[in-house]
Amino acid sequence: TPAPPCTMIIFGGGGDLTRRLLMPAIYNLTCAGLLNQDFSIVAVDWAEMDTEHLREQLGATIRQFVAQRRATAVTLQEDEWNWLCQRVSYVRGSFDDPATYQRLAEICGTGNCVFYLAVAARFFGTIVSQLDAANLTHETEQSFRRVVVEKPFGSDLGSARALNAKLLASLEESQIYRIDHYLGKETVQNILALRFSNGFFEPLWNRQNIDHVQITAAETVGVEKRGRFYEGTGALRDMVPNHIMQLLAMVAMEAPASFDADAVRDEKSKVLAAIHETTYRDAVRGQYVAGAIAGRPTPGYREEPDVAPDSQTETFVAMKLSIDNWRWAGVPFYLRTGKRLTLRKTEIAVHFKQAPYALFRDTPVEKLTPNIMVLQIQPSEGVTMQFSAKLPGPVVKLGGVRMKFDYADWFQEGPSTGYETLIYDCLIGDATLFQRADNVEMGWRVVQPILDAWQASQGEVCQYEAGRPGPTEADELLARDGRHWLRLT
Ligand code: BG6
Repeated sequence: TPAPPCTMIIFGGGGDLTRRLLMPAIYNLTCAGLLNQDFSIVAVDWAEMDTEHLREQLGATIRQFVAQRRATAVTLQEDEWNWLCQRVSYVRGSFDDPATYQRLAEICGTGNCVFYLAVAARFFGTIVSQLDAANLTHETEQSFRRVVVEKPFGSDLGSARALNAKLLASLEESQIYRIDHYLGKETVQNILALRFSNGFFEPLWNRQNIDHVQITAAETVGVEKRGRFYEGTGALRDMVPNHIMQLLAMVAMEAPASFDADAVRDEKSKVLAAIHETTYRDAVRGQYVAGAIAGRPTPGYREEPDVAPDSQTETFVAMKLSIDNWRWAGVPFYLRTGKRLTLRKTEIAVHFKQAPYALFRDTPVEKLTPNIMVLQIQPSEGVTMQFSAKLPGPVVKLGGVRMKFDYADWFQEGPSTGYETLIYDCLIGDATLFQRADNVEMGWRVVQPILDAWQASQGEVCQYEAGRPGPTEADELLARDGRHWLRLT
């Protein structure tokens, strides 16, 4: 069913995120018939531009998007695009100027509005206070007012708390939609479907049967043009409290009592709160030096634009976490994420315990193929299970086999950005896939002791060559426990 009527006001509407992700997602929602006749977009930005010019720019990018994402060449659906394009207008204004908000108040009237903050984090607080001052955040029985906040949500626990306090001074929690784009990914949403709509996984999903869990988010890209941002951020802040903690929460949370937004978010917060306090000894930080990826020479991080020649910023982090509750006591969760690694792969590998004794004498227990269930998030999307089977032939010998469910085999998917679900959910008022204030703060709580220790120069920055799976010190983190990372292949 189409979403209710709404004006979507995008701050930063002239920017990259709007062009590359938001508009393609909204176009896909248009094609799926999920928008209301009374839907419109107001792009707000400081750049000198007019509506015509903006529409042209958006049109050019959407054509690229459609051409790139389809496996087979498909052209833009012109009618749908025209329908959407006519609904876009541009308002030029500065984010801290009350006059901008007066213009918006005239445009919005008394209707439903979503204010989308596609801007640098330093503007979040200002925009929300200005919206409040212009009485734009006031909801009535007839109309909603919602605010979507992009990443990064703070740069540590203190600043995340301060930002929450600032937002909550002007808005109710129910009006705030904090985005973590990982939650828009089909395969991430599928983790809950897999666990809680099947009878045979959940009974095994605990310390009795699971030895440990590995979460990997490996990228081959470097910092690209974001050197300035990344220098002050690093891999830990950029990926762990948000994306990786969301993955961990989905894998480790208890079954919610219902699929209501708050029931799901309560369980996520509970499991994140149960993570044992970390120290810098549970973490390894790394930075890439020159190397090669897929045969192509790649410069080191310190040679990238806008990066200090003696930068200590980490581009890789590995961590070991433990969860202090009945389900997970004694089951380590190992995480790793980094840039310029061997290949691009995000996955969660659940390593089950071995069979209890060696029935097959020719294959002792330690030689059995480990039972691993891998939830593949990207680029390949699906689930694989690895286990032992009898090799064909007269002698009883065992070997490893794999069973695979592949999204692409089962479903013919159109191109999607991952933002479609998130935008649609915001329009219909379903906050399940958005982060609540406490979820965000719990994520930061986990990494804060490590940030503090690194700030105080504890724990060295280990180097790794671009194209390697990370520094060797990350291997030692698992070797200490007699384990090793799944190979990045
Ligand atoms: C972003 C980070 O939030 O997530 C980027 O700021 C990172 O540094 C990106 O590359 C990864 O997202 P995805 O969807 O490509 O896994």
